[in-house]
Amino acid sequence: MDVSTAISQRCSVRAYKATDVEEDKLRKILEAGRLSPSASNRQDWKFIVVRNKETRKKLAKAAFGQSFIGEAPVVIVACGTEPKAMLACGQPAHTIDVSIAFAYMILQAYELGLGTCWIGAFSEEEAKKALNIPQQIRVVGMTPLGYPDQPPTQKSRKPLNQIVCYEKYE
Ligand SMILES: Cc1cc2nc3c(=O)[nH]c(=O)nc-3n(C[C@H](O)[C@H](O)[C@H](O)COP(=O)(O)O)c2cc1C
Repeated sequence: MDVSTAISQRCSVRAYKATDVEEDKLRKILEAGRLSPSASNRQDWKFIVVRNKETRKKLAKAAFGQSFIGEAPVVIVACGTEPKAMLACGQPAHTIDVSIAFAYMILQAYELGLGTCWIGAFSEEEAKKALNIPQQIRVVGMTPLGYPDQPPTQKSRKPLNQIVCYEKYE
């Protein structure tokens, strides 16, 4: 599969089969995160792979009861390890670095036939408690990972002419 196909066909998956995720596929997904770019090549991330059922349920609870998170055989939680680092443009480096890595991982998962759903609605405090994450580390996002148990959904996006302008902001 080429990158454009993955970009155009991937969709968020909110129903998963119980079928386990093979170790070699999981490793390839983690490798996609490892190889992604980061500001100053800081690689200020840690990805927590959760297979334990009880912990997955705790994460679903931390995500305000989005139960499909706990139903997937794997949940990956993406953390920023250097939250004080700022980019010269004023943006925090870790949210950008971790988000790029997570986007790479999500596309890699799609190529391997696996579904994901970026989860941003969660209580960071509860997620940290469930995973023993130290205070200074930030949780940027999480995703369930598993074989989809739903048909692909249709993409709904703004047309390019609403989101692109040329030469100056319009
Ligand atoms: C930063 C971010 C946070 C998101 N949080 C959630 C979430 O908590 N729960 C959820 O079901 N989907 C969540 N999504 C998925 C979006 O709803 C989804 O990507 C969007 O509707 C576009 O659909 P698609 O992924 O199928 O193309 C999130 C996506 C992003 C990028």
